[in-house]
Amino acid sequence: MKVQVDRRDGLEAVADLTVSGVFERGERAEPLPRTLAGEDAAVKGALKEAWERREVRGKAKELTVFHRPDGRGRVVLIGLGPRSRYGAERIRRAAAEVVKGLRGRGARTAAFRLPSFVAEGVVAEVAARALVDGAVLGAHEFTKYKSTTEGPIEETSVHLGSELSGEEGTVRKAVAEEATILETVVWTREIANLPADTATPERLAEEARALAKEFGLKVTVFDEKALKEMHCGGILAVGSGSVHPPRMIVLEYAGGSRRGRTVAIVGKGITFDSGGISIKPATRMQDMKFDKSGAVAVLGILRAAAALKAAPKIVGVLCCAENLPGGGAYRPGDVVRTFSGKSIEVLNTDAEGRVVLADGLGYVVEHYRPDEVIDLATLTGAEVVALGDDTAGLVSTDEKLALGLLAASASTGEPLWRMPLTDYHRELVKSDTADVRNSTEIPVAGMLTAAAFLETFVGSTPWAHLDIAGPAYTTPTTRKWQPAYQNIGATAFGVRVVTRYLLDLARS
Ligand code: BES
Ligand code: MN
Ligand code: ZN
Repeated sequence: MKVQVDRRDGLEAVADLTVSGVFERGERAEPLPRTLAGEDAAVKGALKEAWERREVRGKAKELTVFHRPDGRGRVVLIGLGPRSRYGAERIRRAAAEVVKGLRGRGARTAAFRLPSFVAEGVVAEVAARALVDGAVLGAHEFTKYKSTTEGPIEETSVHLGSELSGEEGTVRKAVAEEATILETVVWTREIANLPADTATPERLAEEARALAKEFGLKVTVFDEKALKEMHCGGILAVGSGSVHPPRMIVLEYAGGSRRGRTVAIVGKGITFDSGGISIKPATRMQDMKFDKSGAVAVLGILRAAAALKAAPKIVGVLCCAENLPGGGAYRPGDVVRTFSGKSIEVLNTDAEGRVVLADGLGYVVEHYRPDEVIDLATLTGAEVVALGDDTAGLVSTDEKLALGLLAASASTGEPLWRMPLTDYHRELVKSDTADVRNSTEIPVAGMLTAAAFLETFVGSTPWAHLDIAGPAYTTPTTRKWQPAYQNIGATAFGVRVVTRYLLDLARS
C-alpha cells in the first residue's frame, strides 16, 4: 500500500474514494457538520440531502457510498459511533472497514479527510497514524497461494485541508514513521503466514540472513551441531522429533546515536506445534503453524528498529524448532540440560515453548548481559482463555519496563494486560527430579506458571514476558475484530507495540 499526506481537502483531489468520518447522531435535528461539507461546493448539496433525510446515522462501521455529482469518484462516509467512546482504535477500525468493505468494487485509491476524524482528545497526528494503520492492515491479504484476488485499495492518502494546514509537519513525520512500521508488519505477516513445510527453522534462518544483509545487522545461526556444543538441550530436545533440524538465530542491531542501553528480544519459533508425543487433538491443529509468531515478530521488530534507527542496541534471539512426534522425539519423563546448566523435567511435550525459550533466554542474559529482556511467545492456551483473542498477557519483574510497554500498548492499540507473578506460581513449577518442571500437577494459572518457569532462566535481569497466544493470529471467531482482510491469518502482533517501546526509549 502506498501511503501519502496531501495538503488539499480531499474532495479537491482525484481519488476513487473520498472518505469522511461521521459521529453517531442524536435524535434531534442537527445541521450538517462542517467537517463533512468541507470545501467542495459540488458535494455539499448531495451531502446535505443525505444528512437531512437521516440516511446517515454515524453508527460504528456504517458505510454510506454515493457518486459525486461532478463525476469524480465516490464519496464515502464511515460511521465512528458515539463521541463518548471515540479514540484512535475507533479510527483504525473505521479505516479498515472502508478498505475491506469496498474491496473488489472498482476502487484503487482512498483519500481520508483528516479534519473529520479529529476530535476532542484525538489530535491530528494520532488520527493520521490510526487512519493509515487501519487502511494498511485492513487491506493486507496473504495471496502467495492464490491465483486470484479481489482488487484491493492500493493507495491511501491523508488530507489536511486548510483547517489543519498548520499540522502538516507533524502529520507528515508521523505518517512516514507509521508507514515504515506498517510495511514491516506486512512483511512480518507474510513470513508468519507461511505453512510449516516451507517455514522450517532453516528457512527462518535464511530470512534472518537476508534481513541482516539488507539492514546491516549482524547475524549468527547456531545449527544442531553448534547447539550440542553449547549444551542447548532444550531446543535440541523439542526439535528431535522432526526431520527439519532446530536453529537458534541471533541478530544484532548496533544501536543509533545515543548508545549504551542493550535490549534483548527473544521469540518462540515453533514452526509447527503438534504437541509432540503429548499430541494435540486434530481440531484446528493447522493453526499451530502460527506457533512461530513470537520469533517472526522478533525479525519484524529488528527490521523496524533498524529502518527507523532506534537508539538502543538490540539483540534478537529466535528459538526455532518443529515439535513433532517422530522416532527421535523427546518424551514425558525426559530430563534435559539447558544452556544455563539448569535442568528441566519434561512432563508434557506440548509445553515445548518454554523449553526452547529456556536456552534462548539463558544464552542472551549470559552472553550479552542486556539491560532488559523482552520475550514474545504463543505460549499458553490459558492466555487465550483468560484474555481472549485480542489481548496479550504481560508478566514483568520490572516496573519501569512494564509501564513502558503499557504506554506503548496504549498508543499503538496492540492491547496488553498485566498479570501477576508470585511465589505461588514459582512453587508450582518446582520439580522433584530436576531444577524445574515444564508442566504442573494441577491445571491452574497456566499463563503464570509458564511465566514462572521462564523467570528461572532470566535470573535478575529486568524482564517482560508477552504471551501472544491469543492475538498472534485471527481465527473465525475474531475475524471481525482484527484489522486484516482474511478470516484466518497472522497478525504480526507485537511488532507495533515493541517497536514503539524501543523508539520511545530514546526519549525517556
Ligand atoms: N502453542 C501452544 C499454546 C497455544 C494454544 C497457542 C492455543 C495458541 C493457541 C503451547 O505450546 C501449548 O501447547 N501449551 C500448552 C501447555 C500445557 C501443556 C502446559 C497449553 O497451553 O495447553
Ligand atoms: Mn505446545
Ligand atoms: Zn507451542
